[in-house]
Amino acid sequence: MSADTRRPSVAVAVTGASGAVYATRTLAALLARGVHVELVVSDYGRRLLRDELGEQATLERLVPYLTDRYGDAVAAGTMTVHSNRDLGATIASGSQGCSGMAIVPCSMKTLAGVAHGLSRNLVERAADVMLKERRRLVMVPRETPMSLPQLRNMVLCAEAGAIILPAMPAFYQLPKTLDDLADFMAGKVLGALGFDHDLYPPWTGRVGS
Ligand SMILES: Cc1cc2nc3c(=O)[nH]c(=O)nc-3n(C[C@H](O)[C@H](O)[C@H](O)COP(=O)(O)O)c2cc1C
Repeated sequence: MSADTRRPSVAVAVTGASGAVYATRTLAALLARGVHVELVVSDYGRRLLRDELGEQATLERLVPYLTDRYGDAVAAGTMTVHSNRDLGATIASGSQGCSGMAIVPCSMKTLAGVAHGLSRNLVERAADVMLKERRRLVMVPRETPMSLPQLRNMVLCAEAGAIILPAMPAFYQLPKTLDDLADFMAGKVLGALGFDHDLYPPWTGRVGS
């Protein structure tokens, strides 16, 4: 898949926290909306994709995996994959056109790196760019319980302008499958990035209606 400057463009980072399905559901939903995705996956993000979703979901096979799992609609979007070691990639600069970035899921290590502006790799640098350019940065941390440094790092990111969107699916929509839970989280991410979605039904005031 190649870049297309006429499309809305979003950066997505996948890091080594549990919940790879949140990443694949978010990617599929963005692609199905015709978005151009600038994707970067950390080494442990790669491991979690493979460990939690299987050999067919490795980064090299990700597009066919998304199509098989979520349907042909993902072909509406485009995707560029960057190395996490490439600090010269387009998304390392504020001159690139991404309107926002989601780190989904976001490890406590990457959270710490963003909180302290370390820019040690492309995930951290692209997130830093979002903060300095005052663009949307949506972070989906997953850990439990959380230490005081981890809690403080979330506060630092929120103070810098990030949206902290913990991997905490709700149950009031009466989920029946793991995919229902992933849909809920992906819908929250798309909403925070400014996209409409129908990934879960809007709250009607009554559970199950
Ligand atoms: C199977 C597995 C599950 C993990 N789950 C989490 C997790 O849920 N949250 C977290 O913060 N770190 C988790 N880790 C640890 C991170 O992957 C580790 O800190 C790594 O250095 C993160 O690097 P990254 O942010 O560059 O991906 C997990 C590691 C493994 C191997």
